[in-house]
Amino acid sequence: QAKIAVVGGGSTYTPELIDGFARLREALPLRELVLIDPAADRLDLVGGLARRIFARQGHPGTISTTGDLDAGVAGADAVLLQLRVGGQAARQQDETWPLECGCVGQETTGAGGLAKALRTVPVVLDIAERVRRAAPDAWIVDFTNPVGIVTRALLRAGHRAVGLCNVAIGLQRKFAALLDTAPGEVHLDHVGLNHLTWETGVRLGGPEGENVLPRLLAAHGDTLAGDLRLPREILDRLGAVPSYYLRYFYEHDAVVREMKAGPPRATEVAALEERLLEMYGDPSLDEKPALLARRGGAYYSEAAVDLVASLLGGTGSPYQVVNTYNDGTLPFLPDDAVVEVQAAVGTKGAAPLPPPDVDPLYRGLIASVTAYEELALEAALRGGRDRVFKALLAHPLVGQHASAEALTERLVAHNREHLPWA
Ligand code: G6P
Ligand code: MN
Repeated sequence: QAKIAVVGGGSTYTPELIDGFARLREALPLRELVLIDPAADRLDLVGGLARRIFARQGHPGTISTTGDLDAGVAGADAVLLQLRVGGQAARQQDETWPLECGCVGQETTGAGGLAKALRTVPVVLDIAERVRRAAPDAWIVDFTNPVGIVTRALLRAGHRAVGLCNVAIGLQRKFAALLDTAPGEVHLDHVGLNHLTWETGVRLGGPEGENVLPRLLAAHGDTLAGDLRLPREILDRLGAVPSYYLRYFYEHDAVVREMKAGPPRATEVAALEERLLEMYGDPSLDEKPALLARRGGAYYSEAAVDLVASLLGGTGSPYQVVNTYNDGTLPFLPDDAVVEVQAAVGTKGAAPLPPPDVDPLYRGLIASVTAYEELALEAALRGGRDRVFKALLAHPLVGQHASAEALTERLVAHNREHLPWA
């Protein structure tokens, strides 16, 4: 019977997580859930709904809320990190100023993602230190973006951490529906870095199962391409299914034009959040509202329950897609790079499966973004314009010194309050 603490528990995503804990309580029996957040008003609304969801589903566990991190995480078995430094306002900036330099404006990809990393890494490391003191045996599960860089920071500081994203589980569910089979039957050959991944095989029954990806592409290529907003031909030519974040690479210039024409995603999310919080305050609501599906976090709770269950010795899926140290898994990357791959997860952590051969079509991009992430982490830990500039220069979506310089100026100007060195 576990105690779990959620840092950033006042997030509008939390009811998704609570719904998962309630539905999947056999896999992960929960004694106590603590929602921790500095925003007391949001925490009240979200905490109230969370308790009603547990009550409706007859979950015996207790849910408490607090603004006190140290007290909240004390004695926890697992601590989930789902925070956003600077909130949607900071995200809106990340999605806007890179466009002025002809670069994609995105919260995790490109220059916006670097800004987010710089704001986030110091905050997460401070939280993790406090977790280490108050709950030395706890697992830290990081959903906080950019997950690859944040997880690398946590592991390098010696924390028991695993990074998690919902892209893979979303595709697994999608493929299962198209193949008319149970999600647990679908095993992905999933390779790359967080938000830079490809499904190079789709196997039935497990890692050794038959690869039905060619069949899936032949029968449902249009649907899959439509979801990714990529031309079907590109999927056919790759013979793989990229994550939708690859559109920021494969159609970079078109995306920039689109983004310049429309409101940033943060504006849409802020409006959604306002409506969601209003709904959460309604005492008759006792389930996650359908409106929450308009956020990007589908199946995030199922991935989280699965992962935490396995880390705590319960009954999670045998293999899960996680972010962890490369340690030789992808031989063309340093051992201390963080990769997103299939792993066997247990109480000792995540052990990556041997990955399929990585085609040079992906290998180069993976390697250059890994190098960017290494430089981004250096910039986040040590500060300084020069480190920011180098990370941007190394990023395959930037690359030119004049753009890197212009982006550095803007990144620093828009994030001064979060960067002590700026
Ligand atoms: C997906 C990604 C997350 C990201 C989210 C954004 O779930 O995996 O890493 O945070 O989309 O969704 P939003 O609703 O905030 O745009
Ligand atoms: Mn993600």
